[in-house]
Order: sequence, then structure tokens, then C-alpha cells
Amino acid sequence: MIQVQDSKQVSKIEDIKIEDIKIQDSEIQDSEKPEVVLSVRGLRKFFGINRSAARKMLQEGAGKSEILKKTGVTVAVDGVSFDVERGKIFALIGLSGSGKSTVVRCINMLQRPTSGQIFFEGRDVVHMNKQELHELRRSKISMVFQSFGLMSHRDVMGNVAYGLDVRGIGKEERERKAMEMIELVGLAGWERRAIGDLSGGMKQRVGIARALCNDPDLLLMDEPFSALDPLARRDMQFELLSIQKKLGKTVVFITHDINEAFKMGDTVGIMRDGRIEQLGTPTDLTLFPANDYVKDFLGSIDKTKVLSVRHIMITPSCLIREQADPVTAIREMSENDVSTAYVIGRKMEFVGVVTLTNALQARHDNLPSVASVLTRDVPSVDQDALISDIIGTASDTPFPLAVLDDGGRLEGIVSRAAILSSLS
Ligand SMILES: Nc1ncnc2c1ncn2[C@@H]1O[C@H](COP(=O)(O)OP(=O)(O)OP(=O)(O)O)[C@@H](O)[C@H]1O
Ligand SMILES: [Mg+2]
Repeated sequence: MIQVQDSKQVSKIEDIKIEDIKIQDSEIQDSEKPEVVLSVRGLRKFFGINRSAARKMLQEGAGKSEILKKTGVTVAVDGVSFDVERGKIFALIGLSGSGKSTVVRCINMLQRPTSGQIFFEGRDVVHMNKQELHELRRSKISMVFQSFGLMSHRDVMGNVAYGLDVRGIGKEERERKAMEMIELVGLAGWERRAIGDLSGGMKQRVGIARALCNDPDLLLMDEPFSALDPLARRDMQFELLSIQKKLGKTVVFITHDINEAFKMGDTVGIMRDGRIEQLGTPTDLTLFPANDYVKDFLGSIDKTKVLSVRHIMITPSCLIREQADPVTAIREMSENDVSTAYVIGRKMEFVGVVTLTNALQARHDNLPSVASVLTRDVPSVDQDALISDIIGTASDTPFPLAVLDDGGRLEGIVSRAAILSSLS
């Protein structure tokens, strides 16, 4: 969409109706409301006996360490709320001891919350009875641990099929299903190998295959890749994203690593001392950090991997028709103080650029229009492309890149200066 900021600029492009290319807000309607699979409300978890004293101190504004000193109670989670939509990855990040694992353990009630509510597919998890919880953990919510948690006396197949075995599913059926998952995580051919034969990355693939074998609606992953070396870790991040794309699983993903959180998470929650400091998409957090803590936390992030072209593109200040005569083109460029104009065809489609030098040459040669002196092979990018992915193209091109929509219409341009400033 070309946003019109300057009416002077519009009036120069006489016969182009900006309304024609403006997307009306009413046209962008979300077709369906997303389904919330997990809803956590005001979750609190205190460890220790004297919890009422701790609660009182909290209300009076005391800090976590003071409460621990005076009451012996650890405030592990202190009023955490978030929603996770179906098919999305929610990443929770924070320093060691900030309460991430406790949040996850409360979700499947491995830890009983001190207060607060947890709804899974609309059902109140906190008040489920033993039987319901058992069923929930067995078939609805699976967990993947940093330490893999595999059984070394069973082979790969035995580990992956374990959950189905426990559920009393026959050998043939469970091995068929397990094999499907083993293939999905890229371990075909390894199904009869002992766990001890596998590398860390492969062990975690087994962990994921096992978690997926029950076909859970929610996957809880507590630092699943932290024990892996950087290469295996990157592989696994990629693997999990592609599995998630295929199966559309809903995931709560815990990590220490902000780059991992931003890569994996559709939404990211930044935890500190048992609270969520800020909740948002990676882009929102990068563009609008709520406070200095979040800003510092994001300090190490590579912004080009979070921001997309849409965030840095601008409206070209000089836009002309392909049929424009050289004199008009020259006048437009000099009035806008630029040496390149973006050229569009009859249907607003992007055609190329014309430089001032070429327009002057065309005037000198008495050409009727600039059409024959255009540079037509200007690289174009999509507005959703990540900045990191266009840096190479931009540095090989003398002009700002054209940002085109699916129909080839010009939506904006991206200058090298804008790319450079997004790096800082
Ligand atoms: N079972 C427990 N008994 C007492 N205190 C606990 C227990 N589990 C966790 N804690 C305390 O609760 C706080 C939050 O711990 P938690 O394990 O949730 O943090 P975390 O963010 O997962 O940390 P890490 O990144 O090190 O895994 C810590 O102060 C921890 O010592
Ligand atoms: Mg933890």
C-alpha cells in the first residue's frame, strides 16, 4: 500500500488515483476468530510453608529475596497471564530462576498452583480430579525435557511407542504410528538402535517423536535444545518449525536464548522474578519494548531477523507513468530533489526506474517518453521479507529496492540507508 503523506506529492501524479491502490481497512477482516487452546490467568506459585505471610508482604510491595529471607517462601510465579492460540508457538524466556519451568509444570499440574486459573481447551485444569489429570497428561498434553528423559533400556522404537504401549495399544498399531513419528523427526533407519548410540540432537528427536506419538493438542517444551551444541540446536529449531507447520501443534516453548525465542515464538513472554514483563510478537517487542529491562534483554537480538521490509519501506517521493515524456520526468525528479524516479504502468504495476541521466539523454534524443530508457530489471522484494534476507540484494543494486505486492504493484521502496539504520 502506498501511504500518502504529502498532498503535494499526490497532486503531481495527476491521473493516478491513490484511492485505487489504498487498501480499505474494512477489506482486511480476519476471517475466523482464532481458538484459544490454553489460557493462564493470574497464576501464582509459592514454595514454602508460610504462604499467607508471603502474600501479605507481596501486597505491601516487598521483593522476592526479602520475602524469602523473612518467611522462607520462594515466590516462583507471581501473577502470570497469557493465552495460546491453536497452532501457535508461545515462547517463554527469562533468566534462570525467573519461574519459567514452574509455569510449565503448573500447566499440566505437575505443580499445583498457589492461586490462579488454567484453562485447557476451555476446561479448568486446576480443579480436575486425578483421573482427568491422568487422561490429560496421557493424551492431550505432552512434555519434552532438556534432559531428554529417555529410557536407555528401550531402543528408539520402544521409547517413541512407549505412550501408546501404556495406553494398551497393540504392537502393530503402535509401531506403525511410532514409525510415522520417527520418520517425521528424520530418524528413519535408527528405530532399532539403542539410545546410547545416539547424539544429543538425535536423542532430542526421539524425545519429540515420543511426545508427538500421542497426538497431543499441546506440547510443553522446557528448554528442549539447551543441551545441544549450536549446530544441532539450529537443526532442531528448523526441524521443530517444519514439524509444527505440518502438524499445526500448539506449543509452549521455554528457552534462555532470546534469538531462539524470537525464531520459534509467534508470541514471546519475557519473565522476570516470577512475572511477565512484556508479552508480544517478536516484532512488537523489538519495536516497542515496554521498559529498560526488556530493552536490555533484547540488546543482543539481531533486529534484521525480526523486522521485515514493511517496517522500513517508504513511499517513493517520485513516481511517474511509463508514458511520461522526458521533460515531465526531469521536472518531477528535480522538484523532488532525487536522481531516480519509480515508473509504473497503466494498472499501477511496477515497470522500472528511470535515472535523471537517462531522462536527460531521452530529452536530448527527442524521445516521446521515458519508456525506452528505463532500467527494467530492478530487484523487487516482498513486504514480508526479513531485512536479513534482502541485505545481499540491496547491496548489489544501485537503487532502493522496489516493494511489490502479489499483483506486481508498487507498495513502497527500501533504501540502503533504511537498511543500515535498522541494523543499529
Ligand atoms: N520444588 C521447588 N521447591 C522450592 N523452590 C523451587 C522449586 N522449584 C522451583 N523453585 C524455585 O522457584 C523459582 C523459579 O524456579 P524455576 O525452576 O521455575 O525457574 P526457571 O526460570 O525455570 O529457571 P531455569 O532457567 O534455571 O530453569 C526459583 O527460585 C527456584 O529456586
Ligand atoms: Mg527451568
